[in-house]
Amino acid sequence: MRTRIVAGNWKLNGSRLANQRLVADILGGAADLSDTEIILCPPFVYLPAVGEQISGSNVQLGAQNAAAQASGAFTGEVSAAMLRDVGCSHVIVGHSERRALFGDTDEIVAGRFRAVHEQGLTPILCIGESLEERESGVTMTVIERQIGAVLDAVGVEPLAASVIAYEPVWAIGTGLTATPEQAQEVHSHVRSIIAARDAKIAAGLRILYGGSVKGANAAELFAMADIDGGLIGGAALDAAEFLTICRAAAGNN
Ligand code: 13P
Repeated sequence: MRTRIVAGNWKLNGSRLANQRLVADILGGAADLSDTEIILCPPFVYLPAVGEQISGSNVQLGAQNAAAQASGAFTGEVSAAMLRDVGCSHVIVGHSERRALFGDTDEIVAGRFRAVHEQGLTPILCIGESLEERESGVTMTVIERQIGAVLDAVGVEPLAASVIAYEPVWAIGTGLTATPEQAQEVHSHVRSIIAARDAKIAAGLRILYGGSVKGANAAELFAMADIDGGLIGGAALDAAEFLTICRAAAGNN
């Protein structure tokens, strides 16, 4: 049985005060959920403060992005080494908002993935199709292309220490969740893409679903064979809602 993961992607939200309250409330409820990995991904500037607040707990720290470059003249970027330095264990790469709004191509995402992996951090590689792509029947082709770019760049070995998050773009922030069956179909395909290179790595790979996950729909999603947890946006900003999702992942909802 793969240990489930629930990661909260706060996106461009938060303040020092709001974060303190949110994290305190999450810590209060997360303490007894030892068989699930819980990761909080605040904006860069809040990483040290959130890291300090969760230190010694069973909650881990993640960032929302990382530079492909190690250092130098790259204004506005944050390197994977810096993220490790401030206590991150995980880094989201290739989120659809980065891909759609900030020009992150498959190649750029592969570069970010490589940089994160080389620092010994766990990349959470986001993949997913747009509504137009789903409606024109190319969902699996898109997924294969997105994962293929990473496999071409780094090979399959780093996937043993990585997480993949399937986030259909049409389900993000829309209230429109993929059905458990729709998500399972893609997750199983993701696992088979990796299995074609390495069956053992594929069997151990955690594949998260993201896109309008809420307390009310988490358990049915996590019940699917290849859904190993969730990458949570909006509901990660509400401690009670987030904890309900964590409890669903831990199997005691
Ligand atoms: P929502 O949960 O708000 O749909 O966001 C999902 C997401 O993009 C997490 O990375």
